[in-house]
Amino acid sequence: MTFAMNILCIGAGYVGGPTMAMIAHKCPHCRVTVVDLNPERIAAWNSDELPIYEPGLDALVKATRGRNLFFSTEIEAGIRENDIIFVSVNTPTKSFGLGAGMAADLQYWEKTARQILEHSQSSKIVIEKSTLPVKTALAMERILNCRENGVHFDVLSNPEFLAEGTATRDLESPDRVLIGSREDARGLKARQTLVDIYAQWVPQERILTSNIWSSELSKLVANAFLAQRISSINAISALCEKADADVAEVAKAVGMDSRIGAKFLNASIGFGGSCFKKDILNLVYLCRHYGLDEVADYWESVVKINHYQQERFLRNMLDAMFNTLAGKKICLWGFAFKANTGDTRESPAIYIAHRLLEEHAEIVVSDPQALKNARLDLAGETGKISYVEDPSQAAKGCHAIALLTEWDLYRHLDFEKIYETMAQPAFLFDGRNLLDHRRCYDIGFNVYPVGKPPLTHF
Ligand SMILES: NC(=O)c1ccc[n+]([C@@H]2O[C@H](COP(=O)([O-])OP(=O)(O)OC[C@H]3O[C@@H](n4cnc5c(N)ncnc54)[C@H](O)[C@@H]3O)[C@@H](O)[C@H]2O)c1
Repeated sequence: MTFAMNILCIGAGYVGGPTMAMIAHKCPHCRVTVVDLNPERIAAWNSDELPIYEPGLDALVKATRGRNLFFSTEIEAGIRENDIIFVSVNTPTKSFGLGAGMAADLQYWEKTARQILEHSQSSKIVIEKSTLPVKTALAMERILNCRENGVHFDVLSNPEFLAEGTATRDLESPDRVLIGSREDARGLKARQTLVDIYAQWVPQERILTSNIWSSELSKLVANAFLAQRISSINAISALCEKADADVAEVAKAVGMDSRIGAKFLNASIGFGGSCFKKDILNLVYLCRHYGLDEVADYWESVVKINHYQQERFLRNMLDAMFNTLAGKKICLWGFAFKANTGDTRESPAIYIAHRLLEEHAEIVVSDPQALKNARLDLAGETGKISYVEDPSQAAKGCHAIALLTEWDLYRHLDFEKIYETMAQPAFLFDGRNLLDHRRCYDIGFNVYPVGKPPLTHF
């Protein structure tokens, strides 16, 4: 079968896989190939058990795979055979040398650019899908267009705004799609090609076009703003605990102001995920690079508050449980960084688990999707750790439950039964303010929400 357009995506991760599945679904005239250097990941994409859990993704992949969606490890052939190449490789924080712990590590990105140059025999559009520091496209263009052999590359920026846990919904009905390009004739033509792809299902008014630097920067800024709201309400949650105020009531009153809005105002143990911290640190590094130290300090404080909130949660546990956790059995409900994903990258649960083990507590980890990742994350830890998928079983014999991920299933458990099987006095630390605290208190739990007065029987 011949297709009107051949699209390649390099990087079959949380972004590359779902994004390309949606393009294949909405554009049956396009042949979409996703390649990755990790053969296990590709094998999983080609199997019945996809490498990532995401509601709706299974059905999407099954409907398109083998029709116009293909997963492969043949990167070089993919580059040769496709005219439009999305690059969705990982861009973690640099862990060595200049900018370590702050700047983006662009080694995977640059390797990919050089590979594209090496194996291209015709001109191509190369699209930055990964989140990158502003001006990366310039480096990309310089690498790609360094040869004078008639093969030309147009670089576009098309950052991805999907959120894990709601990725398929976000991709099907995005708030906006952003496409940045050079604003010369070639750049505008390449931009239009990508606009036409998205226009198959995204309303025109939601397809934003901009200059390429604005597009690169907008993604970092969007993540910084989202994370900033979480840190803002979390900072206020600390004050609420001191002042006997209820952070949910404060958030409601504040969020009803239409200039502020109600979303992203739930106090919690803090944000996680592979992006927020990395992207803010990247922004901070850029600001410092340009000599904007005050701006850098401002954004860095968002990350500092996030860390503070996790440590504060741990200290509240310690304080409530008579200043010692040694030998106590603590059940962790949830290990994923948020509900509806198995992803644990930068999950606050990793830090909490680590700190509990440092205090010589024994931990029982429970999560409906993330136990495999949790085992990997905690592999280097010493101490007593067990993994139990069923949350009620996991709580058996424990001194406390710490709810760390807002899985809906935790709302609907038999709390009377759970309470009876636990060591007394039983503690419940709700790091997501998910549960019915009054009801749990009435059953007998000593309940410690975030940013609200505790409900205790002492
Ligand atoms: N995860 C999210 O929710 C999200 C949302 C928006 C944007 N982003 C951004 O998208 C990018 C990708 O994120 P992700 O979560 O999908 O990462 P990921 O780690 O899940 O996937 C990246 C994949 O790229 C592959 N890869 C790396 N170098 C390669 C190369 N040279 N050739 C072929 N494959 C290569 C890796 O093997 C991996 O499978 C990052 O820049 C991230 O910041 C992520």
